[in-house]
Amino acid sequence: MNIFIGGAWPYANGSLHIGHIAALLPGDVIARYYRVKGDKVLYVSGSDCHGTPISIRAKREGVLPKDIADKYHAEFKRCFERLNFSYDYYGRTDDEFHKREVQEAIVLLYNKGLIYEKEVEQIYCQHCNQFLPDRYVEGVCPKCHSIARGDQCDNCGALLEPLELSDRKCKLCNSTPIVKNTKQVYFSLSKFQNTIKENLDKTQSNWRVNAVNNTERYLSEGLCDRAISRDLSLGIDIPIQGFRDKKVYVWIDAVLGYLTMSKKWAFSSQKSYEDFWDENATSYYIHGKDNIPFHSIILPALINGIGYNKLPDRIISSEYLTLEGKKISTSNNWAVWLPDIIERYNSDALRYFFIINAPEKRDTDFSWREFVNSNNGELLGAYGNLVNRTLVFAKKYFDSKIPNGKVSINIKEEIDNLYEVIGNLIEQGNLKVALEKIFEFIRSINKYFDENAPWITVKDNFEACSNTIYNCIYSIANLANLLSPFLPESSGKIKAWLAISGNRWENIEPKYGVSIDEVTILFERLDKKIIEKEEYSLVNSSK
Ligand code: MF3
Ligand code: ZN
Repeated sequence: MNIFIGGAWPYANGSLHIGHIAALLPGDVIARYYRVKGDKVLYVSGSDCHGTPISIRAKREGVLPKDIADKYHAEFKRCFERLNFSYDYYGRTDDEFHKREVQEAIVLLYNKGLIYEKEVEQIYCQHCNQFLPDRYVEGVCPKCHSIARGDQCDNCGALLEPLELSDRKCKLCNSTPIVKNTKQVYFSLSKFQNTIKENLDKTQSNWRVNAVNNTERYLSEGLCDRAISRDLSLGIDIPIQGFRDKKVYVWIDAVLGYLTMSKKWAFSSQKSYEDFWDENATSYYIHGKDNIPFHSIILPALINGIGYNKLPDRIISSEYLTLEGKKISTSNNWAVWLPDIIERYNSDALRYFFIINAPEKRDTDFSWREFVNSNNGELLGAYGNLVNRTLVFAKKYFDSKIPNGKVSINIKEEIDNLYEVIGNLIEQGNLKVALEKIFEFIRSINKYFDENAPWITVKDNFEACSNTIYNCIYSIANLANLLSPFLPESSGKIKAWLAISGNRWENIEPKYGVSIDEVTILFERLDKKIIEKEEYSLVNSSK
């Protein structure tokens, strides 16, 4: 099987925070799982280097937009590496190859009659002397009547055009803008209504519910053609006569990155990208809920218009993560920033918490107290402890070798069953339940260890003792494998200690007599004082 996984492209205009990771991490778990299973995986993402927030930041800091993009692109790469994200390709939208490909796609769509020119009215700010980017127009949402941005309403999720808003304001200077005529190029989104509806009907059982609901709403309202050119200085030039001074709408530019970076990956690694974009492949798209319509409607329409049949199969769109009970806000600095925490906490500790506490179906909260408690209680208390006491015991009483023991039928059956259940859950994007089930098993093996009391049998029933330790090691080997998509660092260590190699999503039987490598600590206990310290610095640095 060929599995394509597209992780959302973060804007290179500021640091990543825990909300980004909560939305993006599922992509890495799914990619790692399919690789272990032996499928071919292409996992792609990149930095979104265009868009007005970058221009504005550059202007404010007196540097070029490229400087801002370079800085955050490098920072993103470092953060993803530290968290063990396993992208096959992580690109950027200001890449020359990407830009050329996007322009070629636009010319193709234009020649096919799917892009056309249109005279339109647009919002112009006389004070700022410019047409306003959509998100810099603010006004009342026609659907739910709350205050919305010109591109989208955060309250009801509607995709908007700035002209639909009433009581408009320029967000840059707060004055009331005027409406002025100009020409733009439009994409015939409406022509794709049926194709998108058919794909949704066929695949929606594999989408997150929020994605199905959101997409159904647009379809029931009827898709409208959308302007894909913008009067901006930053971005990809529209490759059409008469529009060359305008730029490609940032979302069109970004979503096409999945395809352009697949091609770039194929060139650089001498593989075929087509295998991942034909009908037999399975495609996943991983992002936060504000990204849904761009991936469930705009992307498939573009892809299909260009001539590919591989529309999204599985949309894994997260709800939001809140922080200590409040909405994350970058402008108020109510956020936990990635460059900060990757320096201080172990990647598996972070990954564990972001998955066990993932906003899969509803918003969830990140609190320092929960983070520290779950690290100490589950990760270290249950898992780390099982691994440590078993392997230390084997080193001491079995001459650092895997003892000769018989696999317990019950344990074997449970593990066989786990591979199947966990595999299905991961494929469906239900990572939290998957991880919970693995930890249930960990607790049951801890109980098995206690009940069989090897520290007693070692003195009077060596065979029973060997069996107990063998079964614990056998469970640990399989736990390391089952957990490898979630907790790659600790799984890698355990596999190395037990000399397990190769990729397979099925029962592993460690061999009698194999020597166990030097065992070091898997997870560190976090001092309770950290809770107060972190809470204090969060509150202190927020505005
Ligand atoms: N930059 C967008 C955001 O942070 C996400 C773009 S995802 C892509 O919300 F698919 F369009 F690239
Ligand atoms: Zn203005």
